[in-house]
Amino acid sequence: MNLSGLRVMVLGGKTGLLGQSLTKTLASAGAVPIPLSSADGDILDPHRVSRLIDRKDPDLLINAAAYTQVDQAEDEEELAFALNATAPPLLLAEAAKRFIPFVHFSTDFVFKGDKRTPYTEYDEPGAFSVYGISKTAGERNLLKIGYDKTLIIRTSWLFGPGRINFVEKILGLAETRGALSVVDDQTGSPSYAPDIAVGALRLIEHDATGIYHVANSGETTWYRLARAAVELAGMDCKVEPIPSRDYPTKAVRPAYSVLDLSRFIRTTGITPRHWREALRDYVRQDLKRG
Ligand SMILES: NC(=O)c1ccc[n+]([C@@H]2O[C@H](COP(=O)([O-])OP(=O)(O)OC[C@H]3O[C@@H](n4cnc5c(N)ncnc54)[C@H](OP(=O)(O)O)[C@@H]3O)[C@@H](O)[C@H]2O)c1
Repeated sequence: MNLSGLRVMVLGGKTGLLGQSLTKTLASAGAVPIPLSSADGDILDPHRVSRLIDRKDPDLLINAAAYTQVDQAEDEEELAFALNATAPPLLLAEAAKRFIPFVHFSTDFVFKGDKRTPYTEYDEPGAFSVYGISKTAGERNLLKIGYDKTLIIRTSWLFGPGRINFVEKILGLAETRGALSVVDDQTGSPSYAPDIAVGALRLIEHDATGIYHVANSGETTWYRLARAAVELAGMDCKVEPIPSRDYPTKAVRPAYSVLDLSRFIRTTGITPRHWREALRDYVRQDLKRG
């Protein structure tokens, strides 16, 4: 699919971390992005969304809207399921009615985390958290429909411009504290939202369908990611490793959730750059630190 001149509706494209990068990347690729926030179109109100889609008449529908508060989801199960499991198939139905492609995002948190080699698209989900279970239900509800223009992209550990994220939080804390303790027993692939947006567009251009994993290359822990960010920013804050049991959270996160990128690389011919390189761009160029 050639994106040039295409009208692309991006749910979450006005205010979301990934959505804003998608909007920007689509515009650079010559497409006409139609970014939306929850104020423009609440995906829990399918009739309003349907009318909005009629009015905007997109050639492609991207759902980067979601319930993403991993710990809060433990207390807001109904809302998390409404946004992550019930709304996506209704959006897909809107795309199918118009015979246009539907792109949806999911997460490494669908996995249990008991492997020690990267998770492929063929591995079974097995999340413990409400967030992970709701996202898994969303994927299954979409695949059950069997619409052949459906693309589901799982990504992981997002950071980037436009919305508060782990890296920005750490650098904010490092400004006022002499030391920070960060968990060192969860391993994943940090991913720069602008890189993921480019990867998603390459998949769309290749008419990819089904499930794909897209992340930056390499793996690390939250502790090592925090330390790398503080070092790149040239800040004088000591970062110390701690086990998850010393930083209890409501949601249980996977101990290991690195995504295998082979399918993405085979389809697009692109090997995503290492997360460290992307982190450097984010800290130095976007945040202008260091
Ligand atoms: N962040 C991560 O580390 C991460 C990791 C792996 C996968 N993912 C997946 O990547 C996708 C994007 O995540 P993100 O971190 O970019 O999300 P985000 O920054 O939390 O943004 C969520 C977006 O969803 C919109 N939204 C929320 N409720 C809505 C509603 N009822 N109707 C319409 N829009 C609504 C928000 O709009 P308002 O601002 O108006 O509320 C916002 O634009 C999600 O599918 C997520 O599961 C994220």
